[in-house]
Amino acid sequence: MLSAIPTPVDDRVLVDFRTSDDAGVYRWESGPALVQTVDFFTPIVDDPYVYGQIAAANAVSDVYAMGGRPLTALAIAGFPKDTLDAASIRAIFLGGFDKLQEAGVSLLGGHTVQDQEIKFGYAVTGAIDPSRVWSNGGAKAGDALFLTKPLGTGIVGTAIKFDRVTAGMADEAVRSMRTLNRAASEALQSFEPGVVHACTDVTGFGLIGHGTEMAAASHVTLVIGLTQVPLFHGVVALARQNQSGGMLSNQEHYSRGVESAAAIDEERLSLLFDPQTSGGLLVAVAAEAADRVAEAMAIAGVPAVRIGEAAAPRGDVRVVVRP
Ligand code: CO
Ligand code: CO
Repeated sequence: MLSAIPTPVDDRVLVDFRTSDDAGVYRWESGPALVQTVDFFTPIVDDPYVYGQIAAANAVSDVYAMGGRPLTALAIAGFPKDTLDAASIRAIFLGGFDKLQEAGVSLLGGHTVQDQEIKFGYAVTGAIDPSRVWSNGGAKAGDALFLTKPLGTGIVGTAIKFDRVTAGMADEAVRSMRTLNRAASEALQSFEPGVVHACTDVTGFGLIGHGTEMAAASHVTLVIGLTQVPLFHGVVALARQNQSGGMLSNQEHYSRGVESAAAIDEERLSLLFDPQTSGGLLVAVAAEAADRVAEAMAIAGVPAVRIGEAAAPRGDVRVVVRP
C-alpha cells in the first residue's frame, strides 16, 4: 500500500516500509535508535479481556522481531456505539493493559473512534541498538531457521467461530497467541553480535509469506522441512474445513515462489500459508550457533523448533518445502 507514496530521503531512517520489515527504525541521536510499529485487528476470540491481551502481545511482537525493547504504547480502538457494552470495552482495554505491563511497556494514551466493527490494537515505540537491527535482509546461505511458536491460529480461529473445535484445542491456540515473544527475543538478544542474522514474526502472511519476504530481502532460498514445522494439536484434521480467506489469498500470492515435492501432504502444507495472529518469531541464525540457540530457547521456556535452513538463491524459488 505504501509503495504508492514518494520514497523519503532521510539518512536517520535506518529501516522503513520499503524492506517489508516488522517495524521502522529511526536514529534520532547517538545511542539507541527508535523502533516503531502499529497493529490492530478485529476480535478473534469471544472473551474481550483475552482479545485485549492478544492485541497487545501481537502489537509489541514487531519490536521484539527487530531485536528491540518495547517501551511505550498508544491504544487504537474502534467500537460500535450501540452493540457493545461498556463492560466489554473496559475488559478489552484491561486485557491489553495487563499484557503491556507484563512486557514492561507504559501505556501513554490512545484514540478511540466509532466504528461498525470492533477494532483494537496499539502503536508501539521501543529502543534498539542501531548496530544490531534484525532486518529481513540478513539471512545467509547455511543459516539454521527456527520458529518459536506452533502454527495454526488462523485455522483454530475459524473453527472457534463455527464451533468446530474442542475446548482443549482452543485453549492451546489462545495461550500461544497471548504469549509475548519477549522471552524468545531476549534469549536471542543475549547472544554475541553475528549470531542472529535475520528475524521476523509470523503473522498475517503465514510462515510461507513472511519466509518469502525474508528470502527475497536476503537473496537466499529458505528450505523448510514440513514435518519439522510445529503445529497445534489436531490442527491438520481441521485444516480443510476451516481455511480462512487469508489463507487462500496467501496461497494465491506466494505459491508461485514455493517448490515442493509432488508427494507432499497437501493438508499439512496448507498450514504453512495459514495467517497467524501473534505468531512466533522466524529466525535465521549462524549454523554453528544453532545448538546454543536451541539450548537458550529451551532454558527460556520458548518452544522453538529448528525447521530448516537458508540456502543459496535459486531463481524465483523463495521457499522449498521438503517432505
Ligand atoms: Co511483523
Ligand atoms: Co505488524
